Amino acid sequence: MGAELTTGPVIRTYRDADEPAVGRLLTAAFGRSSVADLAGELRDSDAHRAALVAEFDAELAGLVQLSRGWLDAPPRLVEVLVLSPLGVLPELQGRGIGAALVRAGIDAAERLGDPLLFLEGSPRYYSRFGFSAGREHGFLRPSQRIPEAAFQVVRFAGWQHWMVGALVYPDVFWRHDAVGLR
Ligand SMILES: CC(C)(COP(=O)(O)OP(=O)(O)OC[C@H]1O[C@@H](n2cnc3c(N)ncnc32)[C@H](O)[C@@H]1OP(=O)(O)O)[C@@H](O)C(=O)NCCC(=O)NCCS
Repeated sequence: MGAELTTGPVIRTYRDADEPAVGRLLTAAFGRSSVADLAGELRDSDAHRAALVAEFDAELAGLVQLSRGWLDAPPRLVEVLVLSPLGVLPELQGRGIGAALVRAGIDAAERLGDPLLFLEGSPRYYSRFGFSAGREHGFLRPSQRIPEAAFQVVRFAGWQHWMVGALVYPDVFWRHDAVGLR
């Protein structure tokens, strides 16, 4: 019949053997090796919560990670999640691989049970997944170098009205000077 079979990416949990391919894809996606270093150090840290990879045509095409941060709420610190980094091989971008990774990341975050998932990124891209500006919900950026609109959040069922305040990133992000725009 000549109908084309279109298959989406396969999303699965990161394995140690993926490290070289993940390093290459992040370096290609971001145009520098520092993000691969950040991702590796996050995976080795106590802040690590999840790493998911996308396979496309038997090739490792993308990665998303979740790390533990804190919300500095008035009564106490609350453990929250940060989605970073997200990267897709340049030659495979624009096929929905990033979208599949973001959706899988949100699902994984929801299963982890924390009330909030934060990220820095383009609102044009992330709003389609349910992210909205943190400031609209009473959240403060961890750095003034993050454009206000880029500081975004998804609230899960466990979120309660007192859970507002500043996001605190885990120290790995600061040690890599990977917060906001320089
Ligand atoms: C962002 C990224 C992960 C998206 O991956 P992808 O597989 O191309 O994403 P999808 O195929 O699901 O979606 C492509 C769409 O995202 C849009 N898009 C990609 N990067 C974008 C950005 N920085 N800002 C706004 N839109 C963006 C594309 O224009 C395209 O739009 P369309 O759906 O309206 O045509 C990928 O472009 C990437 O790795 N970029 C370099 C690293 C990076 O910037 N990571 C995100 C840091 S927050």
